[in-house]
Amino acid sequence: MCGIVGVVSNKNVNEKLFNGLSNLEYRGYDSVGMCFINGGKFSIKKGVGKLEEVHKKVNFLKLNGNIGLGHCRWSTHGGVTEKNAHPHVDCKNKISVVHNGIIENYSELKDELTKKGHKFYSQTDTEVIAHLIEENLEGNKVEEALRAALKKVEGSYALGILFADEPGKLFAARNESPLIIGLGKNENFIASDVPSILSYTNKIVYLEDKEIAVLTNDGFDVFDLNGKEKRKKVHTIHWSKESSQKSGYKHFMLKEIYEQPRAIADTLNERIVNNSIIFEKEFALSDDFLKKIKRIVIVACGTSWHAALVGEFMFEELAKIPTEVEYASEFRYRHALLDKNTLVIAISQSGETADTIAALKEAKKYGVKTLSICNVIGSSITRISHDIIYTRAGPEIGVASTKAFTTQLAVLYLLTILLSKIRKTLNEKQIKDMIEGIRKIPLQLQSVLDEDDEILECAELYYNKLNSLYLGRGINFPIALEGALKLKEVSYIHAEGYPAAEMKHGPIALIDKNMPVVVIAPHDIYTYKKVLGNIEEVKARGGIIIAIATVGDKEVKKRAKHVIYIPKNLYTLSSILAIVPLQLLAYHIADKLGRDVDRPRSLAKSVTVE
Ligand code: F6R
Repeated sequence: MCGIVGVVSNKNVNEKLFNGLSNLEYRGYDSVGMCFINGGKFSIKKGVGKLEEVHKKVNFLKLNGNIGLGHCRWSTHGGVTEKNAHPHVDCKNKISVVHNGIIENYSELKDELTKKGHKFYSQTDTEVIAHLIEENLEGNKVEEALRAALKKVEGSYALGILFADEPGKLFAARNESPLIIGLGKNENFIASDVPSILSYTNKIVYLEDKEIAVLTNDGFDVFDLNGKEKRKKVHTIHWSKESSQKSGYKHFMLKEIYEQPRAIADTLNERIVNNSIIFEKEFALSDDFLKKIKRIVIVACGTSWHAALVGEFMFEELAKIPTEVEYASEFRYRHALLDKNTLVIAISQSGETADTIAALKEAKKYGVKTLSICNVIGSSITRISHDIIYTRAGPEIGVASTKAFTTQLAVLYLLTILLSKIRKTLNEKQIKDMIEGIRKIPLQLQSVLDEDDEILECAELYYNKLNSLYLGRGINFPIALEGALKLKEVSYIHAEGYPAAEMKHGPIALIDKNMPVVVIAPHDIYTYKKVLGNIEEVKARGGIIIAIATVGDKEVKKRAKHVIYIPKNLYTLSSILAIVPLQLLAYHIADKLGRDVDRPRSLAKSVTVE
């Protein structure tokens, strides 16, 4: 939700700012703007549309300066207009602000400031910040004015601020919206995320809530809102520069789907030692505690919530721990019944989803242990929760989550093995089989990817259908939900995921010869035969059946119009294999329809507002 980048250097920062902004576009693409300081004045260009479109009109690369800010917008307050595009300035055009978040008391502040004579040009909540700083500048240093202003602000913000009269200083502040500092050589950065500046530095400082940073080209200082200096740790991020580039793929989504064998292999790396699971030091929950827990509650949003449903199945089926999955946005506003024997797990790719952060904070009020499963090192969620297991998917840039999802499933699977072993719900042979099963996954995923041509054929046949249904059962019901979500978000085709048998209670009425029905039907001892029955029911109504089946399966083939095969493995691992063809199907359909796959309309990669 909105991307921010800023650079202060001893040379022209124009290209770095432009590149940083183009890497951040997945966060918002309603409008875009840039600001530089030249000779004590701002040069600002902005416009409505994506970076490339606006750049064609205004030529951002004509702007010059050793200090600058860039912003791409995902609108919350105020329509998508040039006036509402960031940066926003004060009355004297001396303070320039870019913002990600929501200022909750902006209306009161705006009224107060208007009464004092401030003139507003936009409908945004952001503009109040520029005027509020201006109001506090009278007789004060800029740092003091900034602190005084932020003390009055309620809500979430990641801010980049320039003062025309302070051309060597880049100011930043955060509260509940992500913002990092990147340390370069004779230049320093602020950004909404690490990948956007990874080509320039991997030395990162994470700002905490209610901290203000002042960056120059040769250093930085961080203060709290009372002006007290804070000591900050510099983290080295071990993501490669290439990982944040498309590397020849048409879209990030496709690249990230193809990266899954590697991402899973990385996620497993050094965590399986002699039939035991060993997570890193960020995971310090004792065996004693893990033996004692009576219940697990998982909070998450979107795709991560679907991963949580797979986790629920595994924890209950194998580790025998009662588990509930909650939408983080719901959990945060209800009084859940939690006690010391409950473990609360938050799952999040970005670690910055506002609702998931709030749900974790809510859980902590009950004094329960919290564990986060997260992809982004040092992100907010990892700093809030007691324990962490990192998925090692590498940066995920495409808005539709793909490799983050399968690595979340891999982590949940490893955690299930650990819990089952400690709680002795599985014997050594079963543990060994589980470990052998997951070890096969990277290679097996490669063989699923090798079926891409057949999946493309299906996409070519059905990309013009207006609706579709996704059916699965057991551990693959969440995969039906996730397959449908992928199609919806990147192609804008209506799709619904259902437990296959539940179809009879309503959705079956929708099935006719125009309805593609994707059925996940791996061979298993649980519901396979029932799913065959469900396929018959769809067929009897003329539905177009695209099935995901286990290699060698003949029964599904007899009934379905198209079959995509996944390799044989344990039932609990069928979900990791089954989602990949569905990701590819969604991708190819969206691409055939000419959608902007990596930047689907109205979506943003991390939802940092509630
Ligand atoms: C869908 C998608 C979203 C995210 C959701 C949670 O493809 O990406 O549904 O899964 O916004 O995001 P994280 O996992 O970053 O908390």
